[in-house]
Amino acid sequence: MGRLWLHRYVRFVAVAAAILITAGGAVTSTGSGLSVPDWPNTYGYSMITFPPSMMVGGIFYEHGHRLIATTVGLLTIGLAVWLARAEPREWVRRLGWLALGAVVLQGLLGGITVLYFLPAPVSIGHAGLAHLFFTLIVCLGVLTSPGWRRSYGRSEPPEDRTLLRLALLAPAAVYAQILLGAVMRHTGAGLAIPDFPLAFGHLVPPSWSAAIGIHFAHRVGAAVVTVIVFAAASRALAHHWARTELTRPAMLLVGLLLLQIGLGAWTVLSGKHVTVNTAHVTAGSLVLATAAVLALRAHRSRFPDAAEASGRAGTGAEVLP
Ligand code: HEM
Ligand code: HEM
Repeated sequence: MGRLWLHRYVRFVAVAAAILITAGGAVTSTGSGLSVPDWPNTYGYSMITFPPSMMVGGIFYEHGHRLIATTVGLLTIGLAVWLARAEPREWVRRLGWLALGAVVLQGLLGGITVLYFLPAPVSIGHAGLAHLFFTLIVCLGVLTSPGWRRSYGRSEPPEDRTLLRLALLAPAAVYAQILLGAVMRHTGAGLAIPDFPLAFGHLVPPSWSAAIGIHFAHRVGAAVVTVIVFAAASRALAHHWARTELTRPAMLLVGLLLLQIGLGAWTVLSGKHVTVNTAHVTAGSLVLATAAVLALRAHRSRFPDAAEASGRAGTGAEVLP
């Protein structure tokens, strides 16, 4: 029972982290990153004593983001401590501490980027770590789930090397694409190519600058990611249709990817509409996390706790505490 509550708590932290990513995305999309000039204080007030009546304009986004970040930081401390006390697998306990380290570093990067007036490398690092942090929490959700612990009821799943490779390649490619997106966002290259799907009316931009190069690389990246994701998902669906633990994330991944491409195109065509642009950041995180879930589940039998779980596979262990 205790372990089921732990799993539910991880899911709750994951939802809070997704809200935090959206709030952070809104800070950048609205250009509010410098609306609070000091850190860790807010206009000289401590974070919790800052009057809500002063949360106007960009301060609403920036201070709101700090408040949500602090909440998620506290939830992550709770997660690491709960795992340390209740989780028998040492490597999972370590992942809990890693998540805590990531959120602390993330908070520091957030503060540093404010104090140094949003230097692109720091803001890009802050964006890149945010997506990794969310994905790590989602992975902890998978690792603490009852399904994972009973190996999804499969003692000897067929070894499909093609699927294993594609399932690893997908999150790696998505993350590279996210980093390209962050570089574009924090170097002001988001509208360097103003039309879509063509670039200045051509397949390839007729003239080049650093901004156009970064922007075009993100579009080529989207095409590469699409090929890899479709290959991984169709492998799972065509060769493992009975393994719902794979087919479900595979279908979700394809759906989220199509949504993400639509949001990316809409971001450009709307001239970076705040809501659309922010949704593109959040959906990027969801694509990465879903690809990571597929990778974890595809590699289930290679994890250190596989032998222990396979002894229980198919024994009605669904009711594991
Ligand atoms: C601790 C967990 C935190 C997470 C997961 C997080 C996440 C994010 C995300 C996803 C963005 C959007 C990046 C982008 O769209 O490119 C962002 C932006 C931002 N965050 Fe955080 N953040 C955290 C903590 C903080 C803290 C404590 C501060 C303190 C000041 C902070 C300050 C900022 C600022 C100023 C921006 C805008 C940066 C820019 O536009 O260049 N963040 N955050
Ligand atoms: C595989 C599909 C895609 C993924 C995973 C993805 C992911 C992302 C992410 C996560 C960001 C923000 C990074 C951050 O947090 O700072 C971003 C930025 C951006 N993406 Fe995408 N993207 C994809 C496809 C596209 C497509 C097809 C377009 C259309 C041109 C596009 C246009 C943009 C633009 C313009 C920005 C920067 C917005 C700004 O300057 O504020 N994306 N992308």
